[in-house]
Amino acid sequence: MSEAQLLATGQPELSLPRHVAIIMDGNGRWAKQRHLPRAAGHRAGVEAVRRVTRAARSLGIEALTLYAFSSENWRRPEDEIGALMGLLRLFIRSDLAEMVRDDVRLRIIGDYSRFAPDLVALLDDALARTAPNTGPILAIALNYGAQDELVTAARRLAQRVRDGAMAVEAIDAEAIEAELETRELPPLDLMIRTSGEQRLSNFLLWQAAYAELLFVDTLWPDYGADDLAAAVAAFGQRQRRYGGL
Ligand code: FPP
Repeated sequence: MSEAQLLATGQPELSLPRHVAIIMDGNGRWAKQRHLPRAAGHRAGVEAVRRVTRAARSLGIEALTLYAFSSENWRRPEDEIGALMGLLRLFIRSDLAEMVRDDVRLRIIGDYSRFAPDLVALLDDALARTAPNTGPILAIALNYGAQDELVTAARRLAQRVRDGAMAVEAIDAEAIEAELETRELPPLDLMIRTSGEQRLSNFLLWQAAYAELLFVDTLWPDYGADDLAAAVAAFGQRQRRYGGL
């Protein structure tokens, strides 16, 4: 559904979220239900990534942030980590041209320097090739953890204070936000988690302060354009008060 179509549903207050984040959960259960290996669930998950990133673009969402690999995901079996890395490689190789064509600005949040050197080089190249773009942002969270992000921000600010370059009183919400990896992204409006789990799992904890949260039962590999359009419509019907009345 396009924004125009949403507006045509007769609800004048419908507003479009500028920044949507998704915790893509349920790949393993999707595979299990089909007696397939977990990697098959992740493979199907990449298809969902493709559907949803395209849908986000056609809806006019300015930024989409996807939780692809958390800093806790290193605890998974080595072969599953390998499968996820392989899928990321394939995704970048096969979809980069489309991102360049569609004016998508690729961003990565998280410390991906821990990944294999060839993957780091591939990601750096993809970032460089989409850097001149000015269109929608696709941010992929890789080896990302919100607590790590906040620790890094706190350390940088503390260092500046210690160097005499900043007063303690100058540390405010804005100063912290300027240190976060999402600093170039619009404020987070909507956070979606698939597969029925209802927690944030160390994803965008600061940024989620005023975000609308939407938990859906659909497993990530089954998630598609219609689900995103429904999420956007649900967002449009919520009243955001930011602590006011
Ligand atoms: C959660 O499902 C999903 C992940 C840990 C990884 C998400 C990754 C992808 C969708 C593919 C790679 C992404 C890109 C951008 C190419 P789970 O395995 O925890 O599912 P379960 O809870 O059912 O076991």
